[in-house]
Amino acid sequence: MANNFIKKSVVVALMLTCVGAAGPAPANTEVETAELLIKLVQVGRGLISEHQATINDAGKGDKGFTGDYVANQVIERFRKATKIDLSRPNSTPQAPLFLAMVESEKEVIDEAQPVINKQGVGFKGVIPAVFARKAGDRFYRKTGIRVKLTSADYRFPGNRPDDFESEVLRIFADTRHPKGQPYSKATMLDGKPVLRMMDPEYAAATCLGCHGSPKGERDITGAKKEGWHEGDLAGAISIVIPMR
Ligand code: HEC
Repeated sequence: MANNFIKKSVVVALMLTCVGAAGPAPANTEVETAELLIKLVQVGRGLISEHQATINDAGKGDKGFTGDYVANQVIERFRKATKIDLSRPNSTPQAPLFLAMVESEKEVIDEAQPVINKQGVGFKGVIPAVFARKAGDRFYRKTGIRVKLTSADYRFPGNRPDDFESEVLRIFADTRHPKGQPYSKATMLDGKPVLRMMDPEYAAATCLGCHGSPKGERDITGAKKEGWHEGDLAGAISIVIPMR
């Protein structure tokens, strides 16, 4: 088991060192694609998080937090983080795929406009995790690539980890796993070859209002808090890319 663990970590480390180099090596295309799609989800969630106070402002009607605004910000932040400019269609051969994620994120915010702009309501349930789930669902329908948030301590039934995800979450929870290092593996799912990647995430102070202590107390969403502490493994973004 320990051996297996080390072997896997080395494979992942080798694969990941190739990512981010000048040109995507063919064998690593899916790994790079997975990493970049995860980045697009993280950037989108970050935007929701930053605007949470505005979204929750009961006194304000039109908030200007539109799908277009989110799409432009996601593209801008993605460009800063990766040097890939999705406003230029030829920036990368995968641009259409990445733009399908941006479009999914835009659609989720467009659809939520009546809720976001409703005056007299504070907390509206427009939060990063729900945004990511809805964008992931839309993206799956567009592309066949699955992107989801998952956790050993999941709340939303659809976020329940499958066997692979449970095993990787256990690896992430192991103190021998380097904090923050993603895990990827070429494997089979439903009889078809896929690349799976998971990127761990950890509880920050900003998460604890909902996921922190005291465990079992209701948070603002009405769900029971998990009792996480800052730095605890919270869960992971999990992605499944069919391979040709
Ligand atoms: C406003 C309350 C709130 C805050 C703050 C919050 N979460 Fe959540 N989180 C939720 C809710 C509600 C869900 C279920 C989302 C859904 O319906 O898909 C969730 C889901 C998740 C999931 C997916 C697994 C599951 O439980 O379904 C992860 C992982 C997660 N949160 C991590 C975090 C992290 C990390 C932070 C801080 C960066 C954070 N959350 C901040 C409320 C919150």
